[in-house]
Amino acid sequence: MKTVLLFGASRGLGFEIARQLYVRNQRIVALVRPTTDSALLEQLGVEVVRGDATSADDVSSAFAHAGNGATVLSTLSGRDEQGHFVDEIANALITDIARHSTTERFLLVTAIGCGEMRPFRSERAIAAFGDVVDAKSRAEAYLRGSGVPYTLIRPGGLTNKPATGGGMLTSNWLVHGSISRADAAEQIVSALDSPRTIDRAFALVDEELAYFEGAERTVVAGSAP
Ligand SMILES: NC(=O)c1ccc[n+]([C@@H]2O[C@H](COP(=O)([O-])OP(=O)(O)OC[C@H]3O[C@@H](n4cnc5c(N)ncnc54)[C@H](OP(=O)(O)O)[C@@H]3O)[C@@H](O)[C@H]2O)c1
Repeated sequence: MKTVLLFGASRGLGFEIARQLYVRNQRIVALVRPTTDSALLEQLGVEVVRGDATSADDVSSAFAHAGNGATVLSTLSGRDEQGHFVDEIANALITDIARHSTTERFLLVTAIGCGEMRPFRSERAIAAFGDVVDAKSRAEAYLRGSGVPYTLIRPGGLTNKPATGGGMLTSNWLVHGSISRADAAEQIVSALDSPRTIDRAFALVDEELAYFEGAERTVVAGSAP
């Protein structure tokens, strides 16, 4: 089993990914901020490296701890003390360090509306999340231009509802919708097993909750890779 180096594992989707990787008996290394509680991660056997994802030294230490050939996965989100989105600056830093290491792949979790999905954003979504989605889009573009093998996964709205098993990866850029963190994590962990997800981007929603913005509610046929 290859090592997975996680950024953003302390809570939310990142923690759920760590939990599902643990069930698969995978070696997991996670960079966690010094003031953040990591007790639950450590109970899962996650090797916690303390540091900040905006620090080149701290991110380099996490890569060194993970060792050669790790798969890198980031669900980072938030702002640094200056108000910059870590979604952009930390993920660009991780990309730079991955470029100079033997990273097998960088799977970056962003959001519906990023990259090619930009023309299909609703006015409501632009008003609510436009700035962070733009920051995430710049991180996507930087990773795509880096030469590091990548997978971009763009979830819709994340919920803490129980899993339905209906998670769907799709390259239909018209799609909108939501998904539970449990189902999203399942699809993301599965994507790591598939060579067909390398150097590609996907939206991620629950099939039953998928719809086209501005059109009558429509279930999109599954198009998982
Ligand atoms: N919420 C939604 O509906 C939604 C929809 C679409 C996409 N997304 C995206 O999906 C991903 C997961 O979202 P989520 O809501 O489940 O998780 P989240 O609560 O946004 O988790 C963010 C993670 O980033 C970490 N982090 C932030 N700044 C950091 C730094 N400087 N150094 C190290 N770690 C740092 C946080 O650690 P701490 O615990 O230390 O703060 C936390 O683990 C995010 O990228 C989010 O933008 C979310």
